[in-house]
Amino acid sequence: MKKYLALLLSMVLALSLLTACGGGDSAESEESADKVEVGIVLPTKDESRWIQDEASFTTALENAGFTSEVKYSMGSTATELSNVEDLVERGIKVLVLCSPDANAAGAAVQKAKEAGVTVICYDRLISGTDDVDYFVTFDSYEIGKAQGQYLLEKYAGKKDVPLYLYAGNAEDENSFLLFAGAWSVLSNAVKGGQFSIQNCPAVASFAGKELDIVKNRADLEKILRTINTKWNSDEAAKLAAANLKGKKKGDVAILAPNDETARSIAATFKADKDVKSYVITGQDADLASLKAIQESRQTMTIRKDTGELADVTCNMVKKILEGGKVETTSEYDNGVKKVPAVGAGFAVVDAANLPDLISEGVFSQDEIDDAK
Ligand code: BGC
Repeated sequence: MKKYLALLLSMVLALSLLTACGGGDSAESEESADKVEVGIVLPTKDESRWIQDEASFTTALENAGFTSEVKYSMGSTATELSNVEDLVERGIKVLVLCSPDANAAGAAVQKAKEAGVTVICYDRLISGTDDVDYFVTFDSYEIGKAQGQYLLEKYAGKKDVPLYLYAGNAEDENSFLLFAGAWSVLSNAVKGGQFSIQNCPAVASFAGKELDIVKNRADLEKILRTINTKWNSDEAAKLAAANLKGKKKGDVAILAPNDETARSIAATFKADKDVKSYVITGQDADLASLKAIQESRQTMTIRKDTGELADVTCNMVKKILEGGKVETTSEYDNGVKKVPAVGAGFAVVDAANLPDLISEGVFSQDEIDDAK
């Protein structure tokens, strides 16, 4: 009797397991409706730059016929990790990741790699890990050079112009590249007496010298930490206000790393009665900064065509998914490996060429007027 009971029990168990599998099937098909091929994780929604990228991506990937989803990490490495875990569970084949913290994204990319996902660093290099496959980016070193060059030309022939330097976020590799690029053109002008640095003694001993992104890593980091805006407009304004105390003013030059920080640094300088005029750089062509350029509150910005960068990424994704060879044009050292990279172009925008860009339809005056 016991034997029959055991047999009966095992039959019931087997049946229940079978039903569970059947149930699993339908859960699986529900899940597959939710599957995505490409996961995109961006650093924050609080800056207009990344909203531009989301729009460009969605269009480019949809046009190419890929399913994709964009998620935001809102400046948090923990959210970044859970975003990546979620996308991995949903079966992504390619992860496009732009991290809020280049040194802390290792766990997220490791998760993706373990699941066989190809990892593309997007616009910001991820450091200290070999779990990254490619890098698509604007050339931040060259952008920094263009910012430095702009200040140089605006003050051509002048002597002892007070120069205020600001960096992005020391947790973002782009900040190193930007600053090193700007310094590559400002360095001799500082040595030759065209500019006198007001707020960054750490860089003074490099006048006339290059700051190499790899060889001078520790020096660069030290410099960046003293002029670190963390890409945040409030931090930038606070730093600028502190910097202006007891310093040389008059007609000044300001190296600001991007538009968000440029607008708030500019406002701080403008409010100081001893600042007669200023030339300030920027980056991203935020609509609010185009407005600031038209109102002479900001002097220049850099237009980075996020549509082009999204297309470049999309072509790479296509190659990866079709198993073709991915073409790259340069490489970036992330401390562990040289990451093969491909880029997109940029252009300087200021009051002189902005009217042309508006008449060509690149920007509309209405959207500039509406910018906050
Ligand atoms: C990007 C800039 C952006 C900044 C702050 C950098 O990595 O290259 O375009 O303004 O991050 O988000």
